[in-house]
Amino acid sequence: MSKLAGGALLHSVTIDRDSDVPIYRQLEASLRRLILDGSLAAGQKLPSTRELAQDLGISRITVTNVYDQIIAEGYATARTGSGTFVADGLDTEAFPRIRTPKHQSRTADVEISDRARALTGTKAAARYGKIDPFRPGVPALDHFPAKLWGKYLSEAITQEDRHGMSYGEFKGSLALRHEIARHLRDARGMKVEADRIIITSGAQQAFVLIAFVLLERGDTVWYEDPGHVAGRDVMQFMGANVAPVPIDDEGLDLDHAIRTQPRPSLIFTTPSHQQPLGTTMSLGRRLALLNHAQDASAWIIEDDYDSEFRFRGRPLPALAALDGAERVLYTGTFSKSMFAAMRLGYVVVPTALADSFAQARNLLGQNSSTVVEEAMARFMKDGRFVEHIRKMRKLYRARRDVLMQALATHCPDVLTPETTDAGMHLVAWLRDGVDDEIAHRALLEAGIDSLPLSVYCQTPFARQALVLGFSGVDEADISRLVRRVGEVLRTLPR
Ligand SMILES: Cc1ncc(COP(=O)(O)O)c(C=O)c1O
Repeated sequence: MSKLAGGALLHSVTIDRDSDVPIYRQLEASLRRLILDGSLAAGQKLPSTRELAQDLGISRITVTNVYDQIIAEGYATARTGSGTFVADGLDTEAFPRIRTPKHQSRTADVEISDRARALTGTKAAARYGKIDPFRPGVPALDHFPAKLWGKYLSEAITQEDRHGMSYGEFKGSLALRHEIARHLRDARGMKVEADRIIITSGAQQAFVLIAFVLLERGDTVWYEDPGHVAGRDVMQFMGANVAPVPIDDEGLDLDHAIRTQPRPSLIFTTPSHQQPLGTTMSLGRRLALLNHAQDASAWIIEDDYDSEFRFRGRPLPALAALDGAERVLYTGTFSKSMFAAMRLGYVVVPTALADSFAQARNLLGQNSSTVVEEAMARFMKDGRFVEHIRKMRKLYRARRDVLMQALATHCPDVLTPETTDAGMHLVAWLRDGVDDEIAHRALLEAGIDSLPLSVYCQTPFARQALVLGFSGVDEADISRLVRRVGEVLRTLPR
C-alpha cells in the first residue's frame, strides 16, 4: 500500500495570500518541487482534494485543477477510485538540486564568510514587507504629493543633457549637494560646503561607508542602548566592539561610558530625537561629547533621521553645527521626510575624509540613482520639499494628539505613553510583567505593527514597552485601532 503524503506534504506547502502569484500557481510549484527533490516519493499517495483544500484553507476546485495540471505534466497519475499518486519511474536523481542535510539549515550548509554568517541573526530586517498601522518610522504616504513628484522625476529623465542618465558625479549630484547644504544651513544651523556632502542611498549606506572608511576590526564603537538596530548591526558586521551606552534624561550618558567602556574610535548618537526613547540631548551634553571626541580622537555619527518633525518651539541646531573640530559625521535621510523607496540620503563628512568617502561610495556600489538625485535637487530648489515638510509636521502633530487621546481613553490600564514633542513615534510602557516581544507578536496577529522596545536593546532594559509609530496612521482610524490594542493586551499573561 502506498504511504499517504499528508503530513510531510502539508507542512511543506505554504500559501502566501499577499503574493502576486496566484494560489494555484503557488500550489503547483510546491508540488513539483516536493516531487523533484524527493520529498514525495514515487508511488506515494497525495491527500484527497478535499483534505488538502481544507488544510490549506483554499477552494477544492483549485486543488482539483492543480492535480489535473500536474497529472497532465507527468508528475502524478490518477487511479480511478483510489486517488492521485506521485508518478512512478521519474528519475528524480537526474534533477540537479541543493542537498541539505535534514538537521541543518541551508545557510549552515554552504560555505560563506564568517562576516556573512554573523549577519544571519540581524533583527534589522523588520522594515521590509507589508506595512501595518503603527509601524514606527513610516511617513504619511497617503499624503505624499505623488503626482507632483512624478512630474519632477519625469523632467529629470527627459532633460536635454544626457549626462544625467549615466553615473553622474563622484560624490553624487552637485545640484543636490548644493540644495542639501542650503537646507542644512536654514534648518539645522550648519555651515557646510557641498564638497563635504556625499550622496548615499539612505542613512544605512552612510553607516556602511563610515564603518568601511573609519573602523578597524576590534575598534570600540560607543552605541546608544537602546538604539537604532540596523546601524548597530553594521558596526558589529564590520568587526567592531559595539559598547552599549545607556540614555539618561540629557541623552547619551557620557560619564557612564567614560567610566565603563574602552576608549572609542566612533560614537553613534541621535541627539535631536533619541531613537527610540525620544530624548533630546541637552546643550551641555552636546558640548561635553564634542570635547570628549576631540580629546579621544574619536569620530561621532550624528544620525539626524527625523529632526524635521518638531512640534513645539524651534529645534536645537544639529550637534554638527557646534563642531569646530570636524569630528562629526552628520547623516541625513529622505526616507522619513519623503519616502523610503526613493533610497536617498547623505552624509556630511570632515573635509579630510571627503575623498576617501567618494572612493568607497564608488567601489562599494553607488546605490542612489542619478535621476532621483536630479529630481530631488529640483524639488528642493522649487521649495517643494520645505512645503511638504511643513504640511507633514502639522499632520504628525495632529496624529500624535489623536493617538495620545485614544491611549488615554482605551488603554489607560495597559499602556502608559511617554509624551513626545517630536518625531514619528512614541514609547508606551506596558504593565509590569507583560513581555514586549509577546505583546508585539499578539498585536501583529491583530494587524497592528508596533515594535517591542527590547528589539532596540543590547542589554536588558528595566521596563518593557512598545514603540508606536503615529505618522503613518490616518487620524480617522486611530481610535478604533487603539481600542483593539487594548483588547489584545488585556488577554496577555502577566
Ligand atoms: C534611527 C534611524 N536612522 C536612520 C534610518 C533611515 O534609514 P534609511 O535612510 O537607510 O532608510 C532609520 C529608518 O528606519 C532610523 O530609524
